Amino acid sequence: MHAATSEQGEKVQTEMNLVAAESPVPRHVAIIMDGNGRWAAQRGLPRLAGHQHGTDNIRRITTAAAELGVKYLTLWAFSTDNWRRPKHEIDGILRILAEVIERETDELNRQGAQLRHIGSLDGLEPELRAAVLAAIDRTRHNDRLILTLAFNYSGRQELIAAVRSIIASGTSAAAVDEEVIATHLFTRNLPDPDLIVRTSGEYRISNFLLWQSAYSEFYFTPTLWPDFGPDELCEAVREFGRRDRRFGGVHGDPSAAPLVNR
Ligand code: FPP
Repeated sequence: MHAATSEQGEKVQTEMNLVAAESPVPRHVAIIMDGNGRWAAQRGLPRLAGHQHGTDNIRRITTAAAELGVKYLTLWAFSTDNWRRPKHEIDGILRILAEVIERETDELNRQGAQLRHIGSLDGLEPELRAAVLAAIDRTRHNDRLILTLAFNYSGRQELIAAVRSIIASGTSAAAVDEEVIATHLFTRNLPDPDLIVRTSGEYRISNFLLWQSAYSEFYFTPTLWPDFGPDELCEAVREFGRRDRRFGGVHGDPSAAPLVNR
């Protein structure tokens, strides 16, 4: 490693140790990884080069999140609306997904990370679908970090699936409450996100974790996803630590936190 880079790496490491020791670390961080296309355009590269660099960044951020003590990391890699993109770009993203599953599953195991998926795997080639399911199965015993990939995911589709599943279960209308809904969502085994990060300067939720984000804190940054490094993850965690979370209650009363998925 180049000396300057190594020095920078040590600085970030010290910063991470400080943040982990001093700040309340969010248990669940969810990230809308946006700006790959603009990152590529700024460099005169094809959009897929942006997705490739964005994907390489996933390992950096996963490693940093685990070191900070984040327990759940959820990354939005593909929205149900992304099928509207040009076929060439979709094919490229699917190829990147296949490569990343093939290449990174051993690393996830080495890091003690468990891979999960939310969304629908329908629409993927059977081979790719099987590879994703196999990676999920291979990492299922790990518990240092739960890494959830939101792929072919959108919040509204998730709510539709939940309503259908509640009706199919024969639950009476009167019995439907927050807990029933939460247990029929794709995220039934995940706590709600404490912190949602969106990169690339957009100030939107764009159909991500609509139900689950009711009390999340948001961190918006102009940084494009491939450039969002561990240093800025630390900054987001520090910022989270400065927020006063009231869950609709009064200042300083932790019992005001919602009962479902607290
Ligand atoms: C947004 O950039 C990014 C996405 C469409 C999803 C993120 C995708 C990756 C990180 C690569 C795929 C990863 C996996 C694991 C398959 P954008 O294209 O919307 O950027 P723009 O808004 O600048 O055009």
